[in-house]
Amino acid sequence: ECNIDIRDVNSITHTEFIEEYAYAKPVILRGLTDNTVRAVILLCIRSNLLREYAEKMVRLSTANTHSYRKVDVRFEEFVKFLLTPQPKDILGSDTLYFFGDNNFTEWHSLFEEYKAPPFSLPLMHPAYSFGIAGPGTGVPFHWHGPGYSEVIYGRKRWFLYPPDEAPEFHPNHTTLSWVSLSYPNLELHQRPLECTIRPGEVLYFPDRWWHATLNLDTSVFISTFLG
Ligand SMILES: *[C@@H]1O[C@H](CO)[C@@H](O)[C@H](O)[C@H]1NC(C)=O
Ligand SMILES: *[C@@H]1O[C@H](CO)[C@@H](O)[C@H](O)[C@H]1NC(C)=O
Repeated sequence: ECNIDIRDVNSITHTEFIEEYAYAKPVILRGLTDNTVRAVILLCIRSNLLREYAEKMVRLSTANTHSYRKVDVRFEEFVKFLLTPQPKDILGSDTLYFFGDNNFTEWHSLFEEYKAPPFSLPLMHPAYSFGIAGPGTGVPFHWHGPGYSEVIYGRKRWFLYPPDEAPEFHPNHTTLSWVSLSYPNLELHQRPLECTIRPGEVLYFPDRWWHATLNLDTSVFISTFLG
């Protein structure tokens, strides 16, 4: 089920993006970037990532709404021990998530290959974040400035609400627990905008929109924050 507009490369111009979506509502852009066929996907394959980055330190954050705790581990240790399916009853505040806090010197070869979504916003400059996460993991509801999210590998489900329609959720609970416990009880008018994005698709979210994500597979993803 997907109730977010999907526009493909031939059906939208930059002007239309600005007028219809940039300040108004999320949209999924399909086929605008070619990262699925670029070297970036080769770099993102597990064995290649491990070969290149095994010894590097990565900074993990707890997966709750206010990301309290940060932990530094070797990338290899993260892939071998922490990149596993998420148990349903674990707290977001006890889940370690690898997303952002990237050392751009060490991950240079990956970011250099990445081709960002083409539509910019006036006066905004892009900043990239890279992450990898196991099935069932995700970030619970939170909000910030506008941006894009692309999966290089895997599938990621998105749930979004407008800035003035904050969803009910516990900040320390995972998206998985929200999806299994709260979501089924939502009234029709309380349902989020939602969709699963796959390689070749980029989700755009406007400023201050609430969003939560759920990785359906082991996923490799890059976000472009327009700050
Ligand atoms: C980033 O990585 C480089 C090269 O390994 C290292 O010298 C530098 O201290 C790191 N920066 C941070 C903020 O950890
Ligand atoms: C969430 O977890 C953090 C860290 O364990 C704790 O300090 C905080 O009080 C918790 N918040 C709520 C609302 O339970």
